[in-house]
Amino acid sequence: MQTINVNLGERSYPIHVGESLLPQAGELMRRAGVGERVAVVTDAKIAGLYLKPLEESLHSSGFKVATVLVPEGEEHKNLATVSTIYDRLVGERFDRGSALVALGGGVIGDMTGFTAATFLRGISYVQVPTTLLAQVDASVGGKTGVNRPEGKNLIGAFYQPRLVLIDVDTLQSLPQRELTAGLAEVVKYGIIADPALFALLEENLHDSTALSRELLVHVIAVSCRIKASVVEKDERESDYRAVLNFGHTVGHALEALTRYETYLHGEAVAIGMVQAAAISLRERLCDKAAFERIRRLIFRAGLPAEIPSGVDLRELLKHMEVDKKSTGGKVKFVLCRGIGATAFHWLSPAEIVAALQR
Ligand SMILES: NC(=O)c1ccc[n+]([C@@H]2O[C@H](COP(=O)([O-])OP(=O)(O)OC[C@H]3O[C@@H](n4cnc5c(N)ncnc54)[C@H](O)[C@@H]3O)[C@@H](O)[C@H]2O)c1
Ligand SMILES: [Zn+2]
Repeated sequence: MQTINVNLGERSYPIHVGESLLPQAGELMRRAGVGERVAVVTDAKIAGLYLKPLEESLHSSGFKVATVLVPEGEEHKNLATVSTIYDRLVGERFDRGSALVALGGGVIGDMTGFTAATFLRGISYVQVPTTLLAQVDASVGGKTGVNRPEGKNLIGAFYQPRLVLIDVDTLQSLPQRELTAGLAEVVKYGIIADPALFALLEENLHDSTALSRELLVHVIAVSCRIKASVVEKDERESDYRAVLNFGHTVGHALEALTRYETYLHGEAVAIGMVQAAAISLRERLCDKAAFERIRRLIFRAGLPAEIPSGVDLRELLKHMEVDKKSTGGKVKFVLCRGIGATAFHWLSPAEIVAALQR
């Protein structure tokens, strides 16, 4: 097991990454001082796979466990579902000392975290992420929230978990496409902060098949360390935390333009990262060799790299301009300075279009 500490003063917490961690959840939660009444929030599919070992571990460490099943999917990440969780917690007479456990992907994690942030003005919660995306990204850093019909994650709070437990064995049941999409965020960490991680992926991602469990533990731990150090510098995204949005300006625009039906998040981000690298090349921040390495690794990971010819670039730009990060007709882009460092540039639509790759 590897442990990464997220250092945020009194909001600090450990992230444990390892194999066979679910059976140790009770002990690790006790050690972290989690109160004895807990509610595990999950969906029926994940419950069928992982609830039993988690519950057994919690029971044997003396926890009193309730289970709250919520419907599966992003379309249920909303206040109506949160309200059903509140109902159960009130019904079970949960108090300030009780805690929630999010067992699932980013949808479950974001929604459970938001419920914990708001129930009784805030109770503890534990993240037990079961998708690669949630393990390297959503479960770390304390962004919680739910969607509105007008937009994703419009309602939310910064609220750090008490503990994050990452059992890589849960990835064995994850569909290959979801696993590959999660790899996009890992590649992102290499590009923005860690040439060694990038090189390790180059050596080991010969095709889109999964990395070994040992390597997964390492790669996830390194990713969490990078995210943690960004969050430690800028917890509430006043500025610097936006480096984590590398590839996301084009990625989010592509997701929105295709009404979230065509791409998984990581797939859109993969395309967005190649575009950001192409813009970096054009802005002379990144040389041709680094750009080619980025494009090749994304391709080798089994991820898409180009904007499909059917996409209208002007429409794509419109979606970038309504992005939270834009003002004054220019869009704030996170660019890469080769592999392992970033820079922010304000770019006009013309500058963006000139670099985009089909
Ligand atoms: N808080 C943050 O910082 C942050 C960062 C990135 C993304 N997010 C959010 O995360 C969400 C996306 O998360 P996601 O990609 O994990 O998707 P998800 O939570 O929708 O999970 C994807 C699917 O996989 C299933 N699943 C989960 N674990 C499984 C497993 N081990 N085996 C088999 N099936 C499994 C789920 O039931 C679901 O159907 C979005 O709502 C996004 O806004 C949040
Ligand atoms: Zn992302």
